[in-house]
Amino acid sequence: MEVKTFPAVDMEIRKWGAKPESLIQVLHGTQESLGYLPEEVLTYISEKLNVPLSKIYGVVTFYNFFKLKKDAGHVIMVCMGTACYVKGSENILDVICNHLGIKPNEITKDGRFAVRIVRCLGCCGLAPAIMVDGKDVYGKVTKEKVLEILTKYS
Ligand code: FES
Repeated sequence: MEVKTFPAVDMEIRKWGAKPESLIQVLHGTQESLGYLPEEVLTYISEKLNVPLSKIYGVVTFYNFFKLKKDAGHVIMVCMGTACYVKGSENILDVICNHLGIKPNEITKDGRFAVRIVRCLGCCGLAPAIMVDGKDVYGKVTKEKVLEILTKYS
């Protein structure tokens, strides 16, 4: 049976460690990537960090900050970490935001896109990089290429 993996979660676990104490940070970072915390992702986190799912639900419902429902069709994460920044990720961010008519961390009026800034996607060799929906990574992005990428999700 194929085991489903979630790169956005793995990225957080690499950062914070696969231990129960990392739960809040992993949930937080994962939500930044995905825009919300779907059930299958919570189940995955539960297994990886060895924390009972019931406890995770307790945490997620306690803090208003966490969302169990999707708030945008596609979440575009633009990496502004050092490697990406020096390779012009700020321009990429501008192109995306201008194209969608929103600012970073906003959602388009039709709810189809959200743009978020992240510090490192864990693939600095591909700088500048963006990630869509917590799973599709695009590297060496240019201003032209990024608009092409967006049309794939339109
Ligand atoms: S700094 Fe952008 S992927 Fe690491």
